[in-house]
Amino acid sequence: MIITVASFKGGQAKTTTAVHLAAILHEQTPTLLIDGDPNRSATSWNRRKGFPFKVVDEKQGVRLSREFEHIVIDTQPRPTKEDLKDLSETWSQTSNNSKNFVR
Ligand SMILES: Nc1ncnc2c1ncn2[C@@H]1O[C@H](COP(=O)(O)OP(=O)(O)O)[C@@H](O)[C@H]1O
Ligand SMILES: [Mg+2]
Repeated sequence: MIITVASFKGGQAKTTTAVHLAAILHEQTPTLLIDGDPNRSATSWNRRKGFPFKVVDEKQGVRLSREFEHIVIDTQPRPTKEDLKDLSETWSQTSNNSKNFVR
């Protein structure tokens, strides 16, 4: 399953939601959190806290995605239409079973 957490505004708990979703899913089966925000909040939270699941950037994420049952993608605020189209195209090629969760 692929879950993308996106919203137009910053500070809306995207990263918090993505981290919690990844934590819950990872309890069941290997889950990858892709930090798609150039601010790299999830990456820096992982450095500080040491999450039990792997956190990688988009480039590594595409490469590693097939090794994981679940993928959660955190995104930057104010995505353009192009950003959302790119995300959708990238991940629909990666999985036939993708779902988008927009918060
Ligand atoms: N349910 C919540 N209750 C209180 N504070 C929260 C909650 N969810 C997130 N926050 C806080 O809100 C701030 C923004 O959350 P964050 O996940 O970084 O948002 P975004 O990724 O959308 O910018 C953070 O300081 C986070 O700790
Ligand atoms: Mg964030």
